Amino acid sequence: MTQIIDGKAISAAIKDELKAEVESLKGEGTQICLAVIQVGNDPASAVYVGNKKKACAYIGIDSLAYELPEETTQEELLKLIAELNDKGEVNGILVQLPLPDHIDEDEVIRAIDPKKDVDGFHPQSVGALCIGQPGFVSCTPAGIIQLLKRSGIEIAGKECVVIGRSNIVGKPMALLLLRENGTVTVAHSKTKNLQEITKRADILVVAVGRPKMITREYVKEGAVVIDVGIHRNENNKLCGDVDYDDVAPICSAITPVPGGVGPMTIAMLMHNCVEAGTRR
Ligand code: GUN
Repeated sequence: MTQIIDGKAISAAIKDELKAEVESLKGEGTQICLAVIQVGNDPASAVYVGNKKKACAYIGIDSLAYELPEETTQEELLKLIAELNDKGEVNGILVQLPLPDHIDEDEVIRAIDPKKDVDGFHPQSVGALCIGQPGFVSCTPAGIIQLLKRSGIEIAGKECVVIGRSNIVGKPMALLLLRENGTVTVAHSKTKNLQEITKRADILVVAVGRPKMITREYVKEGAVVIDVGIHRNENNKLCGDVDYDDVAPICSAITPVPGGVGPMTIAMLMHNCVEAGTRR
């Protein structure tokens, strides 16, 4: 029987653990606060930001929302970040991506104080992950590690293949699996003989950004398959990068879309906010 990895239930459990922790921190006089900045009115970003604010409210984290107009300049955005860096009561700063084209995303990420970088996107956070030092870890790959651990799936010694090499998912995912003592291969759009490589995987993490690209020809029987993709198909239904109906019967465990990886990102953001508020 294929194990369906229930990201909704696991993220709910993490949020409840954090809620209890935030409550106890409040008793000691510590209040956690996240500042969320959105520039422009990208509808998808507005939904994500709304969900982040909702999660904060549920857990008991204060959220400060900055909804800036599309024409906000680089200087104005950097000035706001500098102010939030200096604000003692703000523990975490999140700038929702993508930013409008006239803004240099890399410079904005670098401007965030690494102690408040709850997204884990700052080069210092990425460098710390790379050399095994403490720092914030990008939320989606951190959530995938939690999904595996809380589903009783061993990583150490396993052949792990990550398809995708983005800064937000693929690269930190590979580093985290390596930190858990997996044997890690990163495949990408220029990889030759992709099926040959993915068929070696005991744990296959798919972040290619192409709907239903991964069929059973890419998957070893009994593998664990983690699907990071989220798309709308021709019938307006959500689907992932993995052809779920084709692949699920041959694997030992799989994440559905929706309800797999998706809910974990916010749970791990909340985890990082609590860490930001308690790390000294
Ligand atoms: N846009 C899409 N995903 C993310 C995320 O995890 N963090 C931020 N800041 N922007 C995003």
